[in-house]
Amino acid sequence: MDLILRQARLPDGQGPLDIGIVGDKVAAISPHINAEARAEIDATGQLVAPPFTDPHFHMDATLSLGLPRLNVSGTLLEGIALWGELKPLLTPEAVMERALRYCDLAVSQGLLSIRTHVDVCDDRLTAVEALIEVRKTVAPYIDLQLVAFPQDGLFRTANSEKNLLRALDMGVDVVGGIPHFERTMSDGTRSVLRLCEIAADRGLMVDIHCDESDDPMSRHVETLAAETTRLGLGGRVSASHVTAMHSYDNYYASKLIPLIAESEMNVIPNPLINITLQGRSDTYPRRRGLTRVRELRAAGVNVAFGQDCTMDPWYSLGSADMLDVAHMGVHAVPMTSREAMEWAFTSVTVNGARAMGLPDPTIREGGPANMVVLQARDPIEAVRLRATRLAVIKHGKVIARTEPRVAHLDLPNRAETLDPADYAPTAKDP
Ligand code: FE2
Repeated sequence: MDLILRQARLPDGQGPLDIGIVGDKVAAISPHINAEARAEIDATGQLVAPPFTDPHFHMDATLSLGLPRLNVSGTLLEGIALWGELKPLLTPEAVMERALRYCDLAVSQGLLSIRTHVDVCDDRLTAVEALIEVRKTVAPYIDLQLVAFPQDGLFRTANSEKNLLRALDMGVDVVGGIPHFERTMSDGTRSVLRLCEIAADRGLMVDIHCDESDDPMSRHVETLAAETTRLGLGGRVSASHVTAMHSYDNYYASKLIPLIAESEMNVIPNPLINITLQGRSDTYPRRRGLTRVRELRAAGVNVAFGQDCTMDPWYSLGSADMLDVAHMGVHAVPMTSREAMEWAFTSVTVNGARAMGLPDPTIREGGPANMVVLQARDPIEAVRLRATRLAVIKHGKVIARTEPRVAHLDLPNRAETLDPADYAPTAKDP
């Protein structure tokens, strides 16, 4: 064997188990592997999980916080305006430098699959050119997917459609859109129809910023579901955000959710951003703005949480930590049953990969040797602690390590060393 992880726990509760790796594949999983290995990791009691996946990000804007100024109101619309001020100042070198720094951070956090939207409303396509280069550079360790995203509207700006097609010709993977930002509802509808047709013609995936709004009349997700069914696009389509669904009346939602399930499209909420950008014009009570995660799950829809932003015109926080995203999802939805908190972990691993059209990343014999060793015993503890990534493994090689988090107490008459997991419950939940 090339590498053996000893006595690990898996996300489904199995363990302790040894995981044996040969080359870039998991060769064996059993209670004890009686073999030598070139390297071993003692994972006793630790959770070993598939790498994290972020199916919704904006890598062209990441780490640009404060350029050329800060978002004073904190709103989505000022964020879009601010990005419009920064766009003409972008250079390929600057976009690449920020993106590669972000990718380093992502690897350290065990985040190895990222779908990023790339603005195509700049006639120079600076960010597209830069991120195609970045995709090539990080390919050995990150699956980076690019979405051609007409940030200022497909029909609202002169060259958007032409630029979107140019970006796809250059090798961008996915067709994006923003129907709620078009001038009118009918333009929004037309944009969804056009974008789905482009994707169907070219055999591509679709990922639309859909109804990222508090407007209960913003109902483009209905059109997207219908077009997905009509064109047979199924799991190749994702509706991102869908925050307006929070504000739909229950009767309409009860008609809509089965249409989404029938279409087999994915839904990608972004809890960190949705909870901060939505409901801002409300007085009180104030809407949380997150889509109906529980109801979508119950209908069998693949729901995968995304991060959306890290230190950019829309969000000044973030750290490429998908456990932070899952943690916010648990609170903001809210969903605090044991089953739902475990699901939140699955949402930022397996479900994200499915939304991106990637192979199933579940750790299994014969599967890819891509995994993260977490300083936690199970998925709920990983979410609770935003657990330290002790080791990140890609293609069978350890590509990042972090020291375990340990607190050294120096109190009067007491000196102690604490592992955060010491505070795990000792009794089994009923
Ligand atoms: Fe977004």
